[in-house]
Amino acid sequence: MQAMISDTPKPTPAAPAPSPLAGQRIAFIGGGNMASALIGALLQAGCHPADIAVVDPDAAARARLHERFGVHTLSSAGPALTGCRLAVWAVKPQSFREAAAAAAPYLGGALHLSVAAGIRCASMQAWLGSERIVRTMPNTPALVGLGMTGVYALPGVTREDRALAEALIAGTGRWVWVDDEAALDAVTALSGSGPAYVFYFLEAMRDAGTAMGLPAEVALELAIGTFVGAARLAQEAGEPPEVLRERVTSKGGTTAAALAALQTAGVRDAFIGAMHAARRRAQELGDAFGT
Ligand SMILES: NC(=O)c1ccc[n+]([C@@H]2O[C@H](COP(=O)([O-])OP(=O)(O)OC[C@H]3O[C@@H](n4cnc5c(N)ncnc54)[C@H](OP(=O)(O)O)[C@@H]3O)[C@@H](O)[C@H]2O)c1
Repeated sequence: MQAMISDTPKPTPAAPAPSPLAGQRIAFIGGGNMASALIGALLQAGCHPADIAVVDPDAAARARLHERFGVHTLSSAGPALTGCRLAVWAVKPQSFREAAAAAAPYLGGALHLSVAAGIRCASMQAWLGSERIVRTMPNTPALVGLGMTGVYALPGVTREDRALAEALIAGTGRWVWVDDEAALDAVTALSGSGPAYVFYFLEAMRDAGTAMGLPAEVALELAIGTFVGAARLAQEAGEPPEVLRERVTSKGGTTAAALAALQTAGVRDAFIGAMHAARRRAQELGDAFGT
């Protein structure tokens, strides 16, 4: 698998080139958590709320979006979507087919970008009648601009369309292009579901710290700070995690005792097994809700 890792956009001294999204009309189908993260990023990038239309049957979701972002909201797809340059599909996988049947007639000229887990490009092609499809797998740190997204595009997607997709994702964090759609199931198992693994370890570290007599909030702050710091070190050190781990593991020391206990308990194998379970589930979702 070839993968191209993005860099977070670097500030330039001169006036930055205008975003390819500026002045474009954008439709969101589904207005939940993921849509909110993307809409927030679009507005920060200079898009105008009046250029964004969100379809969501849930009145509470529409009211939230309108109040928070001032975007145009619709209870169902209609002619207001006509002429949108980009359609972002942010519905649950089980709602995608029905949502596509309703909205596709109004989105003829749009690039379609999906964040839905498991729904394959072949299904979207059939439902939307388009070759211009980008499939992504984001994760929830997108809500704080530190998302990690896997991206795959059908061959019918032009360089210009790819740049448009990147401009959308850039506001939520970093991204990796994959050249094989099946790799997105692995991306789902790794970074899509990954934040939950981190939260799971945070819970365990907090609970262990509390059992050792630390106040829960102190234990949690130590755990979160350790994750943030270690992740930043891994990002900046330019060395593989094995090297960084060995460097903090003195022979006969405390870290060595902890790592030996993890090894004896089979934590590494269990963790790898857990990720394979996530990938299998992603494949099953594609089978269950696809064409
Ligand atoms: N959250 C994550 O961590 C994450 C990560 C990666 C990918 N994703 C993907 O992102 C997608 C959206 O997730 P989310 O967490 O944002 O879900 P969400 O908060 O449940 O938002 C989905 C929204 O779509 C609405 N909807 C249902 N049917 C619709 C239709 N026919 N037309 C338009 N809107 C419709 C839902 O309304 P109702 O509530 O009334 O059904 C809901 O408000 C999912 O496919 C998920 O796989 C999520």
